[in-house]
Amino acid sequence: MKFFVDTAEIDEIAELNDLGMVDGVTTNPSLILKSGRDILEVTKEICDLVDGPVSAEVVATEADAMITEGRKLAEIAENVTVKLPLTWDGLKACNVLTNEGKMVNVTLCFSANQALLAAKAGATFISPFIGRLDDINLDGMELIEDIRTIYDNFGYETQILAASIRSVNHILDSARIGADVITAPPKVIKAMANHPLTDKGLAQFLADWEKTGQKIV
Ligand code: E4P
Repeated sequence: MKFFVDTAEIDEIAELNDLGMVDGVTTNPSLILKSGRDILEVTKEICDLVDGPVSAEVVATEADAMITEGRKLAEIAENVTVKLPLTWDGLKACNVLTNEGKMVNVTLCFSANQALLAAKAGATFISPFIGRLDDINLDGMELIEDIRTIYDNFGYETQILAASIRSVNHILDSARIGADVITAPPKVIKAMANHPLTDKGLAQFLADWEKTGQKIV
């Protein structure tokens, strides 16, 4: 499973990237706002740091303007993935940019039918938003399952990028279902390492080691 990091904070990306944990990065206008950085500059910095796809989102809402913005973002670096919203205009722009050989991430997907359209439009990635569905008492994970089934039924190559991940269980369930990629905030990825029995076991081993009076180095 590929891990993308959902942030525009360079330090956080660098820390995980140094561990070999980062297969790509996703940003969105809210994350750019949070970073306080210029989108073109910060996207270039991320692309220089990370080998994999780096999603940068357009903000136009009409297809031709989306295409113009997408082309400009794609000029930043070869690993830029143009992020487009799942609207009819977004699908039109997806089709054009994909035919130009650019990677496209279709975002803000909340239904399996939307995901089916994105695959037909040639999207490289589809981003179903799990957490935002859970927030309104719908089942985000059920959407990932439905998309996996539909894509497998017809052999679509669009990669399922499970997004809006809020917990380690969202990652575990996405892995079980067979999402191709997850994108999560760095703190959620780091939380995957936590287990109380690991902490308890380590405390016991260290206490016993102290009693041996030995040193390794
Ligand atoms: C994905 O590409 C989005 O940037 C992100 O996962 C949205 O997450 P949120 O619903 O927590 O804002």
